[in-house]
Amino acid sequence: HRFERDKRVNLHGAMSEIALFYQSMLLQNIAKPAVSYLKSRGLSKSVVEAFGIGYAPKHALMNQFGKTADDKKRLLEMGMLGENDDKRTYERFRDRIMFPIRDKRGRVIGFGGRIIDSGTPKYLNSPETVLFQKSRHLYGLYEVFQYHPDPKYIVVVEGYMDVVALAQFGVNYAVATLGTATSTEHIQMLFRSVDTIICCYDGDRAGKDAAWRALNAALPLLDDGKQIQFSFLPDGEDPDSLIRKIGKEAFEELLLKSMGYDHFLFESLSKDIDLSNQQGKTKLSALAIPLIKSVPGAAHKLLLKNAFGTRIGMLDARQLDQLFNAYA
Ligand code: CTP
Ligand code: MN
Ligand code: MN
Ligand code: MN
Ligand code: MN
Repeated sequence: HRFERDKRVNLHGAMSEIALFYQSMLLQNIAKPAVSYLKSRGLSKSVVEAFGIGYAPKHALMNQFGKTADDKKRLLEMGMLGENDDKRTYERFRDRIMFPIRDKRGRVIGFGGRIIDSGTPKYLNSPETVLFQKSRHLYGLYEVFQYHPDPKYIVVVEGYMDVVALAQFGVNYAVATLGTATSTEHIQMLFRSVDTIICCYDGDRAGKDAAWRALNAALPLLDDGKQIQFSFLPDGEDPDSLIRKIGKEAFEELLLKSMGYDHFLFESLSKDIDLSNQQGKTKLSALAIPLIKSVPGAAHKLLLKNAFGTRIGMLDARQLDQLFNAYA
């Protein structure tokens, strides 16, 4: 165990060194296209610094950190090198803008790398390593606590650029999942720090799906006093594009008016159901009751139960109890 721990400490140190190196690369001539791209996205110098955003020129990592076979082995463990089928190694991030991903203590554990301008894949993320598990880390969480030791709520968005742009405009309490669905572990982490989570996803199909998965991850964690809300952006917008159009105040207004999870739950569940007939009501019961029963908070549960009763036109509490008891 001692060995494993020392190894992780060393890897953390090396990752932070690499992040600083990428940051310093932004000052080099070779980074000119990267810097103009950041400017064209409207990012200020100070927010770029606050998030430690950098640039990975081709070959720079190998030249600087990959001289010996031991070095390469370490870079491989850190996910900074990939390995082909024939065991040949390659730099994972080449000619990309680098977003360091930190753990709660601020240690760099991975990177997101954006292509400059256009091309595919648009983003590359670090693979799962001993340091980095994407279901257990959130981009920007460390930075939120740098801005606010005790935030009232945290906004969950889809992308790196969303987190950084929001912070630049003063909405500096946003985090992003890392190319993955919002997991139970993510929600657990957030509820350890705040009582209210606001999910703010793109206004497209993918955003709706992401919200639905987040809700399902959150329901079994909803103690009374905890709250999760949903804000859906106009089609074609993401938080980055929207806050640049409407500004901080209007954006925060939108967050304040976000939809309660109960409303989103019932709207989603009854989307394709005709509640005017018995078949529809039984169908909604089968979908909703097990979910409602999975909610731990007694007040949450009772309010959901009553809202469900209203939806299917069953207002009698004893009947509702009977119905709920029939489900596991
Ligand atoms: N993502 C990813 N791999 C991709 C595309 C997206 O991991 N090939 C993840 C990234 O974390 C990205 C998020 O999904 O930030 C949202 O994707 P998208 O909305 O397409 O990107 P934006 O964050 O809006 O990026 P940009 O504004 O730079 O185009
Ligand atoms: Mn504060
Ligand atoms: Mn999208
Ligand atoms: Mn975007
Ligand atoms: Mn987006």
